[in-house]
Amino acid sequence: MKSNTSFDKDPFTLGVASGDPQPDGFVLWTRLAPEPLGGGGMPSEAYEVTWEISEDLSFKKIAHSGKALATPQLGHSVHVEVQGLPADRWYFYRFQCGDAISPVGRARTTPGYDVMADKLRFAFASCQHYEHGLFTAYEHMAQEDLDLVLHLGDYIYEYRGNSKAIRQHIGEEIQSLNDYRNRYALYRTDEHLQAAHALCPWLLVWDDHEFDNNCAGDISEEESVNPEEYLLRRAAAYQAYYEMMPLRSRCMPRGPHMQLYRRIPYGRLANFEMLDTRQYRTDQPNGDKKSPLNDAARDPKNTLLGDKQEHWLMRDLIASQSNWNVLGQQVMMAPVDREEGAEKAFSMDQWPGYTHSRDRLLGFMRDRKVPNPVVLTGDIHKNWVNDLKVNFEDEKDPVMGTEFVCTSITSGGNGEQAEAAAKILTSENPFVKFFNAERGYVSCTVTPEEWRSDYQVVEFVDKPGAPKITRASYVVESGIPGAKRAH
Ligand SMILES: [Fe+2]
Repeated sequence: MKSNTSFDKDPFTLGVASGDPQPDGFVLWTRLAPEPLGGGGMPSEAYEVTWEISEDLSFKKIAHSGKALATPQLGHSVHVEVQGLPADRWYFYRFQCGDAISPVGRARTTPGYDVMADKLRFAFASCQHYEHGLFTAYEHMAQEDLDLVLHLGDYIYEYRGNSKAIRQHIGEEIQSLNDYRNRYALYRTDEHLQAAHALCPWLLVWDDHEFDNNCAGDISEEESVNPEEYLLRRAAAYQAYYEMMPLRSRCMPRGPHMQLYRRIPYGRLANFEMLDTRQYRTDQPNGDKKSPLNDAARDPKNTLLGDKQEHWLMRDLIASQSNWNVLGQQVMMAPVDREEGAEKAFSMDQWPGYTHSRDRLLGFMRDRKVPNPVVLTGDIHKNWVNDLKVNFEDEKDPVMGTEFVCTSITSGGNGEQAEAAAKILTSENPFVKFFNAERGYVSCTVTPEEWRSDYQVVEFVDKPGAPKITRASYVVESGIPGAKRAH
């Protein structure tokens, strides 16, 4: 093990991050990578890394410190699970390896499990195709006063480089561990993404592109790929994900399996159930394209969460003491009819393709009176606010919760307000309250009385400098299901 190294090149090119906070600590993350785009550039040895947590930016009031190992087996990443800090406090943190010192990040402990916090401010985002644009949305997010950031997946895209793009992926479609490591490093060298990670703890879950487009359970999108090859690729993708994210060691992958679903309470104010709708789902029962609902989509044997995760979630929701019960997940729940007129067509890769699975979960939350269900969704590269119901086919079925869907950070390139499309979608689908096709993220202010979602957008991502515009805001009053436009 090396401890007093002198570095020719900065090993902290990927910045720092924190995640999965608790009342007495959080995860601190960094990775030693003097050559971030070329496999990391560290010799094949373990390195000792010192970490420090301070109450002040000058690191005079040290609250905690220790040593961790950066090993070649995990790409010289460092995950520190800090414990023993007081609840509901902010800290600064940094790492040191030999003569190199990392940038400084901020992290906070959550309020105690039995404390009703007055307020939580957090943002959620998804889908950040590097080739489709600049991370201006993160530049704005990093200026906000936030306690948490949720990332709902498509942190990277697996595709090969396109020489006509605004900025390029390097190489072919990624397959090996080294390919995935280099792709994450390409994204994480972005200064705005680094700044957003340094701002506060993140709660991350993946969608499909961290591995392979529209993947479902153990089945590849390209059906010619044999299952062994597919699982080897998935093992590489999962390992690189674990290495790059501020996750606890209980999430560490075992080959092609990795348990990412987990619960993070923010006192008794909000309970975040972070879900994985990719790894355990049955193959898309009715394909992964738009289609009318059919018997296959309604078949109760299909599942989007898998039995184990679904039962875990239901047990957790019954036990929850929180005022707002949040599902942080990937694909859209509301069954939006995409066809104008009497014809109907729904996206079968999303919850509508697993209709029985959705009705079972929402029905459970209604029948067990889980307080204030809020579903947060990514994946679809558009902003939506949707009323949730147990039976969407019955217009009189009461609203039981709200789904807030965030657009992409960049995926799809420059967006548009799309007012004409919004008119059609809201008239075809009475449960849709808002639709918008610009780029950005959503910031939320949560109190015991009210949830507010502000839809933050940027008008372009093909050049720097787009200002932040709050395009619309929606509020939900505690105990009264349904979002209303805030004026
Ligand atoms: Fe995406």
